[in-house]
Amino acid sequence: MQLLNNVSLKPHNTFGIDVLAKKLTTFSTLDEAKEIISSKEFTSENNQLILGGGSNVLFTKNFDGIIALNQLKGIELINEDAEYFYVKAAAGEVWHDLVLNCIANNWAGLENLSLIPGNVGASPMQNIGAYGVEIKDVFHALEALNIHTGEVIRFHNSDCEFGYRESVFKRKYKNQFIIVSVTYRLLKTPQLNTSYGAIEQELEKMNISTPTMRDVSNAVIAIRSSKLPNPKEIGNAGSFFKNPVVSAEKLEQLKHDFPNIPNYPQANGDAKLAAGWLIEQTGWKGKTIDKRYGVHKLQALVLVNYGGATGNEVYQLSTDIVNSVKEKFGVELEREVNIY
Ligand code: EPU
Repeated sequence: MQLLNNVSLKPHNTFGIDVLAKKLTTFSTLDEAKEIISSKEFTSENNQLILGGGSNVLFTKNFDGIIALNQLKGIELINEDAEYFYVKAAAGEVWHDLVLNCIANNWAGLENLSLIPGNVGASPMQNIGAYGVEIKDVFHALEALNIHTGEVIRFHNSDCEFGYRESVFKRKYKNQFIIVSVTYRLLKTPQLNTSYGAIEQELEKMNISTPTMRDVSNAVIAIRSSKLPNPKEIGNAGSFFKNPVVSAEKLEQLKHDFPNIPNYPQANGDAKLAAGWLIEQTGWKGKTIDKRYGVHKLQALVLVNYGGATGNEVYQLSTDIVNSVKEKFGVELEREVNIY
């Protein structure tokens, strides 16, 4: 086990926040992961964090503990039946590489999730989603290493308690498991989901009337690239907030004052609001502070670090936004990004 002390986390978080980790180590096999979790260097620390692509974290201070980078690699077709391919990917694989690999093999179902930053391990953790598809729709099972017992446990769909950008791994099992691999159940006959308005418009623009899986992926890539900043160029962690859900009664009240408020009915009668719209209405969209950080000009849900921002500054900005939205709409925005 190789251990680095007081090392910068800048290359390990897509926000590009420059803080130090007291200890940093890496594993690329299951045996190495087991060796780390049973080592004194790991067990003696109060703060232990397993990091994948670092695409959903904001570090507000130096990390006083140990961080283990999950670099488990490998993608394989492990099984198939009449309808499905079962594709197992190691948690340290780059998510978009998996999507492209599946498209190249005609394994269908991940195309709408093209270009989401981060690694495979984060996909069930966050129940990542975009353009009408969520991981829970294509999830078969995962294997995770219990940090305390060293046991590898298999989780099925219902064990993960998936919700909107939620799972059991963000709640009761937070920081208790290392996700080792995820198996996706992918269709042999593609069922393309182009119902999300922007995809259809994009396909029309591309002059495509009978799209393939790759066309849908290309459309999603084009949409994302047109309004979401590339973390390799501008530091960010995707949507900083969740889209809030309000009661039908609250929605009626809001519609009275804001007739154009975008809203999406939920199965239980509640309504999901568009956080990006709420933030835009408060005037924060495109605001830049001290030329270093701010709110993205094309998507108000994304906070950006143009370079040199501290995590605390970004966090304070998020608090100011939460307060503005609360004041104008009486709606409390919840952060999607994990704060450390
Ligand atoms: N909107 C605005 N102003 C903005 C941004 C959005 O008015 O600055 C309005 C749009 O006009 C639209 C509505 O808000 O009416 C929804 O916007 P969009 O389709 O861009 O999606 P979103 O709700 O802002 C969510 C996910 C994204 C995902 C997209 C596409 C969350 C928190 N975000 O964003 O996921 O890519 O839908 O499916 O659910 C992420 O989680 O990191 C992420 C980027």
